[in-house]
Amino acid sequence: MMLPVGVAIDPKSGAMGQATGRYAKHLGETRGCYQDQAAVDALLAARGDLPVYEVVEFIQPGSDIIFGTTTMSPGQVGEEFFMTRGHFHQRRDRGEVYYTQSGRGVLLLESRQGESRTVDMVPGTCAFIPPDWAHRSINTGDAPLVFVWVCNADAGHDYAEILTRGMRQMVVKRDGAVALAPNPRYAA
Ligand SMILES: [Fe+2]
Repeated sequence: MMLPVGVAIDPKSGAMGQATGRYAKHLGETRGCYQDQAAVDALLAARGDLPVYEVVEFIQPGSDIIFGTTTMSPGQVGEEFFMTRGHFHQRRDRGEVYYTQSGRGVLLLESRQGESRTVDMVPGTCAFIPPDWAHRSINTGDAPLVFVWVCNADAGHDYAEILTRGMRQMVVKRDGAVALAPNPRYAA
């Protein structure tokens, strides 16, 4: 029988005491996310293969619900910011919830039909990600961005589509401000 459990989460680090899984993604393995490949090379040469984000998760065996935290480092690559790879769910009928705990960022969403939306990620904001919308998190601040996510355990991840064609919009820093810009590499 599954039993109830309370999991403590550090809102500044995303650390979870009872994590059942974790992984990290570094700059080198996510370089295809960025427009400015020379800037990726320069950052790798100057700072090494920095961690961009770490995910820790909690699931009880047999549960239909999984949750966890994603902790994103601050960083810029050219005029873009450190970002997650972005994904659709394999199951097109599965949405997700992101609850921002600390830091500042942008949740960039794109429907299967190509419609773009953003949700500001600020502490206390809970974002609803509808089924069949791709989602990518971008740390636009200068501190770690920490958010809790909750979804169905069977949602699955489809990273290939976003890795292949990118997303229509980029989040950039121009003239000192965070802005949206069309992605010139987007291959519809
Ligand atoms: Fe997701």
